[in-house]
Amino acid sequence: MILYYSGTGNSEYVAKRIGNEVQDEVINLFEKIRNQDFSDLFSDRPWVIVVPTYAWRIPRIVENWLMKTKLGGSPDIYFVMTCGGSNGNAGAYLKKLCKVKGLSNQGCISITMPENYIALYSAPERAEALAIIERAEQKISDSAKSIRKGTAFSEPQVTSKDRLKSGLVNDLFYPVYVHAKKFYVTDACVSCEKCEKVCPLKNIRMENGKPKWGKQCTHCMACICRCPKEAIEYGKHTNGMVRYICPKKCKVDRTEKSSWSSSWL
Ligand SMILES: Cc1cc2nc3c(=O)[nH]c(=O)nc-3n(C[C@H](O)[C@H](O)[C@H](O)COP(=O)(O)O)c2cc1C
Ligand code: SF4
Ligand code: SF4
Repeated sequence: MILYYSGTGNSEYVAKRIGNEVQDEVINLFEKIRNQDFSDLFSDRPWVIVVPTYAWRIPRIVENWLMKTKLGGSPDIYFVMTCGGSNGNAGAYLKKLCKVKGLSNQGCISITMPENYIALYSAPERAEALAIIERAEQKISDSAKSIRKGTAFSEPQVTSKDRLKSGLVNDLFYPVYVHAKKFYVTDACVSCEKCEKVCPLKNIRMENGKPKWGKQCTHCMACICRCPKEAIEYGKHTNGMVRYICPKKCKVDRTEKSSWSSSWL
């Protein structure tokens, strides 16, 4: 079973591509994370977790969800991390997570996709984004091939810099950078409420037709990138900057099951 979380569509695209190649169910974790739903899941086939990289590790909201949710059936679990360039030493932390949960770690692979972190960096224009995704296709297919054959992903080379980034830098990243204080809404807002609906942490509530941000932000970039009017800014940094949503879509061959699916335990 393929489980994915995605702020701006890259991981969703990769999850669905893999789902089609291995012919397994693809499930979006958004509602489960948003509703703090930790009910047990069951799959006879290996678990495949597809997520973005946040500060050289898997997103904490996904790590937290995985820690609290029982994955029954197959003990094997693969991790596929989309990233803008590097997932550092993320695999080491996933090994620990598997040990705690009694799962058999089949490795972690990073797939370079377009950068989406517009609060700190910049995202590519559509044509460049499509070229980056094109270059990722082979690795997506190769990872699906390993999953289909039941072979573990090969161990990546990890440097001491990677260890530092996934360790100390990740620890500092959340308290220092990850907050919603710099988000604000401009007059372009048409009160459509989309930003409120796409937040995985219910961190946005509408007040007099305008979004107000709370303290639970995880910097997924969904609100700012998915606003149809580009009416959300993050400090001065995002002024005039490209909003990123994965330009390639993939239709799942098999039905995507929602959180109340009967196949769940
Ligand atoms: C909060 C945040 C932190 C990020 N940290 C990293 C990182 O450490 N390394 C990296 O290569 N990309 C990083 N990125 C880029 C994303 O991992 C990448 O664009 C990913 O494919 C986005 O996936 P999504 O569209 O499924 O949300 C970061 C993005 C965000 C929003
Ligand atoms: S998504 Fe954009 S236009 Fe819609 S309510 Fe939010 S800020 Fe306003
Ligand atoms: S407030 Fe915006 S950036 Fe923060 S978690 Fe919600 S949708 Fe993501």
